[in-house]
This record gives sequence, structure tokens and C-alpha cells, in this order.
Amino acid sequence: MTKADQPRVVIFDTTLRDGEQSPGATMTHTEKLEIAALLDDMGVDIIEAGFPIASEGDFAAVSEIAKLAQTATICGLARANFKDIDRCWDAVRHARSPRIHPFIGTSPLHRAIPNLTMDQMAERIHDTVTHARNLCDNVQWSPMDATRTEHDYLCRTVEIAIRAGATTINIPDTVGYTAPRESAALIAMLLERVPGADQVIFATHCHNDLGMATANALAAVEAGARQIECTINGLGERAGNTALEEVVMAMKVRNDIMPYRTGIDTTRIMNISRKVAAVSGFPVQFNKAIVGKNAFAHESGIHQDGMLKNAETFEIMRPVDVGLSESSLPLGKHSGRAALRSKLRDLGYDLADNQLNDVFVRFKALADRKKEVFDEDLIALVQDEERQEEQDTLQVRRLRVVCGTDGPQEAALTLAIDGVDRSIEATGDGPVDAAFKAVKMLYPHGARLQLYQVHAVTEGTDAQATVSVRIEEDGRIATGQSADTDTIVASVKAYVNALNRLIQRRQKSAPDADVKSVNFRDAS
Ligand code: KIV
Ligand code: ZN
Repeated sequence: MTKADQPRVVIFDTTLRDGEQSPGATMTHTEKLEIAALLDDMGVDIIEAGFPIASEGDFAAVSEIAKLAQTATICGLARANFKDIDRCWDAVRHARSPRIHPFIGTSPLHRAIPNLTMDQMAERIHDTVTHARNLCDNVQWSPMDATRTEHDYLCRTVEIAIRAGATTINIPDTVGYTAPRESAALIAMLLERVPGADQVIFATHCHNDLGMATANALAAVEAGARQIECTINGLGERAGNTALEEVVMAMKVRNDIMPYRTGIDTTRIMNISRKVAAVSGFPVQFNKAIVGKNAFAHESGIHQDGMLKNAETFEIMRPVDVGLSESSLPLGKHSGRAALRSKLRDLGYDLADNQLNDVFVRFKALADRKKEVFDEDLIALVQDEERQEEQDTLQVRRLRVVCGTDGPQEAALTLAIDGVDRSIEATGDGPVDAAFKAVKMLYPHGARLQLYQVHAVTEGTDAQATVSVRIEEDGRIATGQSADTDTIVASVKAYVNALNRLIQRRQKSAPDADVKSVNFRDAS
């Protein structure tokens, strides 16, 4: 069979909906638009851009993504009620190709929440899918917690949704409970038993609570599902969703046993993975399949020897296939603007002239402090540059810390607050503690530090540190990141970054808690 004859699997990305629902992964409006543009460019078929009724912010993001998308279908999520569906349609209707996605929990546990009998729920499904279909030709319906729903009732509800006009039926493993054989059997059962099943596309939507989301999704495809719902880096609530990069690369690399094609340009994977990690504040684990820092690293002597003789000895796919540049020759302080531009292009960053100028200035400063500037350093630097926002309330001007074995450590900090410089000195249990206390004294706030994480970008004592900070205040969560060769400077900048985002969120929206609570609890 030639590639063109292979069944096409539709890739439905829900990074901006299910991924963003993960506590702490909240993204700004601009970040959502940037990610949507990257998804569109890489060939994702359907982008689930958000849950329009959840907040004004979600509505605005879905509407704008719908207007901007070039090729992808833009989908919005809605609970099974007319108000949600109307709001969803108002947001997605601007797209060249819009989709409405109503859902309701069909398992016994989920049926108990809106307190509907089986018959009442069946009627609700009929009415809401019909309503959605009257608005939009493209309707996807999901029986939430399908993998724990009685088979007879699942078949009944799926049949009703198909008769009411649903064009895609999504089968969610909402709590990550199923296993590959069962996932395949469920799709096969539905295809066999439900009248009209051959007229619609079946989708698989898996969560990774038992680490089987990728295997479950692929097993569903082997049984006849033709749409995979997934997220970049497997982002998502709890243990996350099926990772887009894993299913796409699995079908590409093992096309001999999984002969399916997708429309994804896999060379875009690394770039979007880095972007999602940076904006969500969820760093990719080092040994994560496909996009982890170590996924293509061969450190042991035996591996290196084999790799030098023949890369296929230990590599089943080429780094370039996922968008990793093959040569990672470092730049140094004598490298010019053209070398920087070309290196950044290789890394997937096509910067405008003014952005390149700013990055060049920072690159030179970094190269003065660090002999060799590696790809990872440049990525950290560009991402740091992208995070600077002119309208930020707080900006770090100067920081000096005094450390010693006989503490307490001291920090002298100057912050610009709404453009006015203010300075203070603080002591603490370690330099980071002292510096964070100084921030809090200059800008008093009630946010609680939920996460403080430091990663060395490269090896060596002159390596840059990337710091991620997550803070929470009254249910609002904000993350911040920064990179610097000085770990304390990176820490303070990341903290201030998170505070700036919290301030923006305070100004703009309702607490996250409100947004999350409308998700699954009340399907009425
Ligand atoms: O996991 C789930 O059940 C979902 C549905 C809303 C599709 O995300
Ligand atoms: Zn989900």
C-alpha cells in the first residue's frame, strides 16, 4: 500500500482546552494565539481552542483563533445545554471551518451529577445535538467517561447523537482508566452495534493516569477510530492527555505495523513543544519520549561508539524529523548577527529585525559571560525575550545578594513599580528567600508560592539556569519563567514575571476556580 492509500487519521489538538485546564497551565490571550498559529502551521486538522462559556477570556481567544486560522477547523467545547452551545457557536462561527463540541457525562457516576434519569439524559442529548447541528454542519459529540459507561447505554446515546446529526463521535477515557485491548474493543463494539456508525468518524480521547494514553489511542485507531485527540507534550489535567508528538511519530516510525497517515509536519514538533513548555510553565521531563532533552542524547561510551559508526544503531528516528537541528555547533562572542539569525532559523525562530536586534544584544552579553552559547542557551534567551512585556507593572532593575556560610543572606533589590524605582534590603534563609522577601516588601501581595523549580540549560558551572515559579492567590494561578547565568537573578525575574501575570489576571478576569468549576460538574 502506498502512503497515499493509507487511512488518514485526523489530529485533533486540545492543548488550548484540555491542556490549559490543567491547574497552573493557564495561558495569556497572546500566548493562546501564538500556539494556535503554530498548530495551524504544523498541519493539525482540528484545534479545540477553548470552552467559550467558561470565561470572557476563553470566548475572546476562541473567537480570535477562529478568525485567524488558515487551514485548521476551529472547535469549541460546550456542555449539553442551549446556552453553552449558542455561546460556543458565537465564538467559532468566524472560522473558515467551525465545529461545536457538546458533551455530557454518561457513566453512572456522571449521570448522578445533573441528577437525570437515563431517559431524561437521552432526551437532552437528542435536543442539544439537534440544536448544535441547526447552527453548524460540523458537530462532535462526547459521552464523557465513556469507558466507564454501560455498553448498552453508551450505544443508545451514540445512536441518538448520530441520528440528531453529530458528524464525529468522540469516546473519552476521561479518568485514564482503560487499557489498550479494552480501548480497541470499545471502538469495535460501537462500530459493530450502533446503526449509522459507519457514517461518522469515531475519535479517541485518552487521559494518561495509568501511563497508557498513547497506547490506548493507537489501539483505538487500529480498531477503526479515525481521529486522535491529543495535546502537545501530553499537557492536561492530572497525568495529562495523549501526547500529539508520540502518536504522530509512532505512526510515522512504525508505519510498517500502523499504516496510517496524518497531515502533520513533524519537523515542527520541537519548536511547538518548547513554546508550550515555556508558556504553560510545565517543563518537559528530560526522558519524555520524542521531545525530552535526553530523547536523542547518547551519553554512554557504547552508545556513542555505535552512533558514530551508524546512527541507526541506537536511533529509530532522526533528530531532524522532529525539528532538532543536526549540527549543534555553539556560537561565541565573535559570532555576528547573520550567524545568530541563521542559527535561530534552524531552531524554528524567524524573528523580525527589531526582535533580532534585541536578542543580539542579549546574546552578546551572554557570550561575554559564557564561552560557548549552545542551542539551548539561545532558545532560553529568545523565550525570555518573548516574555518581556512593555506594560508589565513590575520590572527588575538591580539585584545584589550577599551569601556566606554564616547567614542570614542579604538581598538589595530595586524594582520599578509602574515606572517608579523603589529599593529595599531584606535578609532570608538563603539568597533566594532573601530576594523573594525583598520583592514582597516592595510589592506586598497575598500570593502563595506553589512551585519553585530550577533547571540548568546546559552543562558546566557557567550554564544558564531556567527558573519556573508558580503562585496562587484566591484561586488565580500564575506562572513565570526566566533564564540567566545567575540563578538568583533568574529566580527573581521568574517570580516577578509570575506576579506581573497575576496582576494582569486580577485586572481582566474571574478567578481560575470559577473557570474550572464550570468544566465537568454541572452538565445542565
Ligand atoms: O476527558 C474528557 O472527558 C473530556 C471531554 C470534555 C471530551 O475532556
Ligand atoms: Zn479530557
